[in-house]
Amino acid sequence: MSHFFGVYKDIKELNIGNVTELGIYEGIFSTIYANMQDTFRELNYYIENGLCTGKRVLEIACGDGGNYMIPMAKKGFEVDGVEISESMIERFHEQTARLPEKIKSRMNIYQANIFEYDTDEKYDLITIPSTTICLLADDEEQTRCLFQKVYKWLKPGGRFMFDYRIDQSLQNEFISHIYTETNKKYPYVLFMQEFNNVVPGRGIVNMYVETMEDGVDKRYIASSDKRIITDGLVERLLEGIDFRLHNSYTVDLTNAKVKLLVLEKEEENE
Ligand SMILES: C[S@@+](CC[C@H](N)C(=O)[O-])C[C@H]1O[C@@H](n2cnc3c(N)ncnc32)[C@H](O)[C@@H]1O
Repeated sequence: MSHFFGVYKDIKELNIGNVTELGIYEGIFSTIYANMQDTFRELNYYIENGLCTGKRVLEIACGDGGNYMIPMAKKGFEVDGVEISESMIERFHEQTARLPEKIKSRMNIYQANIFEYDTDEKYDLITIPSTTICLLADDEEQTRCLFQKVYKWLKPGGRFMFDYRIDQSLQNEFISHIYTETNKKYPYVLFMQEFNNVVPGRGIVNMYVETMEDGVDKRYIASSDKRIITDGLVERLLEGIDFRLHNSYTVDLTNAKVKLLVLEKEEENE
């Protein structure tokens, strides 16, 4: 269910000039995502752990691939991605079309809901970057089943990495400043704001964008509704799965502070 607050609620209710609601990763919002991500500071952690484990990487909920799949393929990793959004997959194909065949051949993207996806492939490294776990953790039993599949998909000694925000809390309501961005190339103007714990336990992002399509003004609005992830929830999700905590990093991104966990599947005994 989408929630709108503040000026976004007003815009939606006024509906001046026909505002269309889209999913946060659909249509123009997939283009905006590709332009605005600020996750490159985590890339080196994934590369470093990939270099310790091996070449085969799976990125769960890989989006348009621009932040991790493509940079990792450029570094020589063989990267598979699973993504639910058709728009994100279109952005992936737009970007990879320009790449040399050698790099393209190292990547496969599959359109699927990760909860319904299965494979016989075995990976050295499996990642869920960009705090995407907050989109996947509403049904704890379902998420635990996903983590069990991740364990099965890993080779012995393989690693599973995912990150979650530690600057959000279940105790405090927090409303961010309005973030604005203008992109003259596409072109669009974007307004975006975070509403944390306004709905208890949820991190909500509202986005509003104005653009031109075929010479016509267009307005779109979107809301994402994410679960606020706590250490306690992560412990519950991993309960009974034989991962060993290998490492944990704290990473400061521009608009968020995250904990990045590195879990390891034990080597089989000789
Ligand atoms: C925050 S983006 C991260 C994209 C990419 N991993 C990155 O780091 O740039 C979250 C992505 O998860 C995808 N997603 C959400 N639920 C999913 C599901 N059940 N199965 C597969 N992908 C999903 C969304 O469509 C979106 O592209």
